[in-house]
Amino acid sequence: MSQPRFDIVRLGTVDSTQRIARDRAREGAPSGTVIVAAEQTQGRGRNGRRWYSPAEAGVWLTWIHRSRRPPEEWPAITSAGALAVSAGIRRLGIDSYIRWPNDVIAAGGKLAGVLADVEGDALLLGVGVNHSLRREDLPEELHGIATSISDEGGWVADERPNLDATLDLMVDEIAEVLRRFEEGGPREIVREVWLISSVRNRSVQVELPEGDTIVGRAVGLGPLGEILVDHGHPNLMKIANGRLVSLEES
Ligand code: BTN
Repeated sequence: MSQPRFDIVRLGTVDSTQRIARDRAREGAPSGTVIVAAEQTQGRGRNGRRWYSPAEAGVWLTWIHRSRRPPEEWPAITSAGALAVSAGIRRLGIDSYIRWPNDVIAAGGKLAGVLADVEGDALLLGVGVNHSLRREDLPEELHGIATSISDEGGWVADERPNLDATLDLMVDEIAEVLRRFEEGGPREIVREVWLISSVRNRSVQVELPEGDTIVGRAVGLGPLGEILVDHGHPNLMKIANGRLVSLEES
């Protein structure tokens, strides 16, 4: 099967590409419409957090994808997005891992994040990749947490990493992972995510949305990317959503 068609819509300053993609999806935008912004004033992260997205400093995009897979499989799209972004970062020579569920990390911290929403029959896959943000320019709350392609990869022979080239790379990898998702479903994708998971077989603590905290060892991922935690009970705990803290240095 050939690569899915995509159409990149480049915008300047917007509130959030997720919001624009939602409106366009409602208006019937075809699958493969990719909303790209130079800057977001209200970039949205997971769990209601803000996503810092200054002008020309990163890849800020939302991909409208109308899937033919059964809706039960759609939650795995977050894992698929994280795998694509991590693959793109590796192609730049930067070692990159996935911190469950959706953080793409490198040695210096969080380099990218993925956010998936559903609008009717459309999946909205939001991707934020810090490109030329420098550590010293980050807002205080991100010090020691976020990193970027520039900070991880450096400048080689004075050659500044190129934002358009990074966008192309990400679009390429996302198109490929969506093609695989459509053809084969999430199983193989999730398997690959586990292989580059930052908490593989490590002691973890997961704070559940309802407030409980689970402590145990991360031993795998469920079919839709849920984390499986061995917490000393006969059955593994399968967690679809939560805040994960590694109790071991990675
Ligand atoms: C996270 O790690 O919390 C997810 C971050 C997702 C950020 C991207 S940037 C493009 C798209 N538009 C948004 O408002 N958010 C996503």
